[in-house]
Amino acid sequence: MTVIKQLFKKNEEWAASTKEADPEFFDNLTEQQTPEYLWIGCSDSRVPANQIVGLLPGEVFVHRNIANVVVHTDLNCLSVIQYAVEVLKVKHIMVVGHYGCGGVKAAMGNETFGLIDNWLRHIKDVYRAHKARIEAVADDEQRFRLMCELNVREQVANVCHTTIVQNAWRNGQELSVHGWIYGLDDGLIKDMNVSVSRLDDVSSIYSMDGES
Ligand code: CO
Repeated sequence: MTVIKQLFKKNEEWAASTKEADPEFFDNLTEQQTPEYLWIGCSDSRVPANQIVGLLPGEVFVHRNIANVVVHTDLNCLSVIQYAVEVLKVKHIMVVGHYGCGGVKAAMGNETFGLIDNWLRHIKDVYRAHKARIEAVADDEQRFRLMCELNVREQVANVCHTTIVQNAWRNGQELSVHGWIYGLDDGLIKDMNVSVSRLDDVSSIYSMDGES
């Protein structure tokens, strides 16, 4: 059996066992999706959103890209945030980074990887913003871990700086933005305690006045 055929077989088995456990599972999902969470994570194959937090299909809306970066000109990411916040009305957005992130590591070095170098520039910007703090850490591994954490913090801020999230808060919508980091070595998520739930907590330079 080819590798690809195996995937179809696994899919059939999964669909059958899921239906056996809950005969109405797929019928319910066909009706609508009502996830409470938007997960913005890394594309890394070792960090699958649903599996890590034990959520079923229908329970988490997901956007993943290399190194979980939220860029204010990325129409793809903004569209996901807008749909999640304004239509699905998720209550939580979690930016989930992970230690050992290849994208972060690449951005900390000088090797070229092609087109992706342009994407990784956004992480180099994170480095530049926190240069003194990062370079004060002598140990390579600790410095790498710190950069993975700082990248999450910056991306949480970037989510909060979108007009989408700010308008939701202004309209009284219940919405929290969180920063988490995942350990590849132990499978555990750490809350970085940088949650933001209201406009007052957004630094004034990024706080926008009206609808847009
Ligand atoms: Co990664």
